[in-house]
Amino acid sequence: MLTFVTTNPGKVHEAEEYLDDPIQQLDFDYPEVQADDLATVAAHGARAAYRHAGEPVIVDDSGLTIDALGGFPGPYSSYVEDRLGIERVWELTKQEDDRSAAFRGVVAYCDGEDFAATPEPVDRGEADESRSERRGQDLGADERASATIDAQVAGGDGTIPVKLFEGVVPGEIVAPRGDGGFGFDPIFEYDGRTFAEMDTDEKNAISHRGRALAKFAEWFANIER
Ligand code: IMP
Repeated sequence: MLTFVTTNPGKVHEAEEYLDDPIQQLDFDYPEVQADDLATVAAHGARAAYRHAGEPVIVDDSGLTIDALGGFPGPYSSYVEDRLGIERVWELTKQEDDRSAAFRGVVAYCDGEDFAATPEPVDRGEADESRSERRGQDLGADERASATIDAQVAGGDGTIPVKLFEGVVPGEIVAPRGDGGFGFDPIFEYDGRTFAEMDTDEKNAISHRGRALAKFAEWFANIER
């Protein structure tokens, strides 16, 4: 049995559409580390979730990246949506000539074992290791805070491998349109329509989460268990 560790039952229903195996939800709000890329956040989350559940788990993490803003808001999407709001993200972006953006989603799988090589990356917590070697030596205040969270989350098992599957949908930031969806959907245009102008099935068929789940499902169907 595969366990999807998330507080959001909607994500579990979406995953069920891609996987042949049954999935159960474990409603556990694992601590999220602060990092500039979604894959690192998801990998830490998967380790913490695996330690909590003690059985094979997936977690997911997603966000919007705007090219002209250096990938902002990326892993901070939820915070930026709450604090700034999508209108202000549009105001920031409309001054730019290049308004290209992408929704990115990462599904992270951990079962405590290592993985045979496939094109999808494996996170082995190397960044944490080099950080902990330097811990107490020349770390700045931000890095020290981050290393402390890493240590708490990793619980000494920072090198447990985590397999990562990324799904990306390229698009463009536009003035808000549409009533559907959630989050940044009204300002994200794909193929002439915003995500908020699509119905749920249409959006799920092309979404970053769906693309990451499809990659994971294909891999998961073929691993030895
Ligand atoms: P999560 O990691 O899937 O919980 O997503 C984090 C944040 O990214 C959300 O709170 C939204 O702000 C943004 N986000 C992720 N996926 C989507 C999407 O499909 N549409 C709109 N916003 C999204």
